[in-house]
Amino acid sequence: MMDKRNAIKIIKEKIKAASNLVILSGAGISAESGIPTFRGEDGLWKKYRAEELASPKAFSSNPELVWEWYNWRRELIRSKKPNQAHISCVDLEKKFKDKFTIITQNVDGLHQQAGNNNVIELHGNIWKTRCTNCGDIKENKSTLGNLPKCSICNGLLRPHIVWFGEALDEELLYKAYKVLLSTDIVIVVGTSGIVYPAAQFAGTAKDSGAFVIEIDIKETPQSSLVDVSVRGKAGEILPLIVESNNK
Ligand code: OAD
Repeated sequence: MMDKRNAIKIIKEKIKAASNLVILSGAGISAESGIPTFRGEDGLWKKYRAEELASPKAFSSNPELVWEWYNWRRELIRSKKPNQAHISCVDLEKKFKDKFTIITQNVDGLHQQAGNNNVIELHGNIWKTRCTNCGDIKENKSTLGNLPKCSICNGLLRPHIVWFGEALDEELLYKAYKVLLSTDIVIVVGTSGIVYPAAQFAGTAKDSGAFVIEIDIKETPQSSLVDVSVRGKAGEILPLIVESNNK
């Protein structure tokens, strides 16, 4: 593996020469804000794995348990702020303007809170609810009970989040592929790269000519497939890449 200094030098040169850039982010980019990742050491909630709770089956058999988990996460996220990694993404958007896109698997909204505008939230947003009866979607930041009801039809609400076994929003997927197929650079940050379809995005972009960079504290299944993989915290590495790289 290339040493870190060299890798960062190459990445900075690539960014300088690029016309457009995509960030593909996962839970690791919010880890330094104090939000546990899904598959990290503190990733379990009680004894459950994300896959056991984030599913239509789990919700139909025990909606209270699923809401308890989401309410725990909502209250946790409410108390957290964007970190240096999110702020670096804002700097990159300032530089690339409308040629910059974040495709995130995160539902915490911290990219937008930091100030990014062009964010594709592939898996939804934890502050949005959807009625299981009438389909009404609302942003709702209030503290919810474990069986929240729709204000229109009194149906049971669910988090407006894409669960395991559910299809992603087609329009968002289309937008994501459109930028991935035309971008010069993809920076994959803080994702284990095992949940599809996001797991194949870096490969898709690379096949169509993008230079693909990975930033993660650990090696992932994608590490050997990307052009440069840097081991380190997102909040430390991203600022190094962005610093003094103003176009
Ligand atoms: P994971 O928890 O699977 O992976 C987090 C990644 O971030 C791992 O590769 C860690 O090594 C890395 N990481 C941790 N701290 C970091 C730091 N400070 N800097 C850089 N990297 C760090 O999370 P995701 O890949 O986002 O879906 O998970 C994908 C999807 O699975 C999520 O969107 C969620 C989950 O189930 C749904 O809920 C639908």
